[in-house]
Amino acid sequence: MVKPLIIAIDGPAGAGKSTVARMLAERLGLDYMDSGATYRAAALKVLQSGTALDNQNEIGRVIALAEIQFLAGNQEPKVLLDGKDVTAEIRSSEVTYAAARVSRLPEVRKKLISLQRSLVAGRGVVMEGRDIGTVVFPEASLKIFLKADPEERARRRLQQNHQQGRPSTLADTVSEISKRDQLDAERKISPLVAAEDAHVVDSTYLTAEQVVERILELARSKKLLTTP
Ligand code: DC
Repeated sequence: MVKPLIIAIDGPAGAGKSTVARMLAERLGLDYMDSGATYRAAALKVLQSGTALDNQNEIGRVIALAEIQFLAGNQEPKVLLDGKDVTAEIRSSEVTYAAARVSRLPEVRKKLISLQRSLVAGRGVVMEGRDIGTVVFPEASLKIFLKADPEERARRRLQQNHQQGRPSTLADTVSEISKRDQLDAERKISPLVAAEDAHVVDSTYLTAEQVVERILELARSKKLLTTP
């Protein structure tokens, strides 16, 4: 059986992972999968249950009962929590903060990593996150670590927030991004680091299209693509 193509795109918040991963998936006819959305759905479950974010035992219990589904495919992916579509709800800043906290817990990571692994369909996937190339799919066909300067990442995140009807200020966005960078990097399990065999791409001065082209070049040079 031919192994499905798995392209892992990791990196910090605001480096352009979702835009690039979506475009790449479309260009290559692969599924797009946003692993962060599963952590966000878990965080929403914890918030809904009223559990304190530092109550590790109770969070473990709440998450064990959560039914999280990620519906990938050709359409815009959807995230369901206990059967309800929470795709929009998981983008609030409250969920963003809670996701950075709950994603540090081993019980949460264990459940979501196995969900993420189960999502690879026969035609392959572009999966973005923080630990896809290091932990979820260490055997991925191509690993990209996408980075960008913090100011540029904050500027992009601010623009995205405005487009999605969530106005904020540059100062708040810079502080949110640096708080999350710190939580992601300090995490004992699955900290945000580039896999040894990842290709590091700095997107600070590149458009999303240019980043996609660079990744396609890498895929071609590794003979992963059948078409030119
Ligand atoms: O990419 P995002 O902003 O939607 O991610 C939400 C949170 O989930 C973020 O704080 C880091 C965490 N996360 C993770 O720990 N591992 C992943 N593979 C993806 C996201």
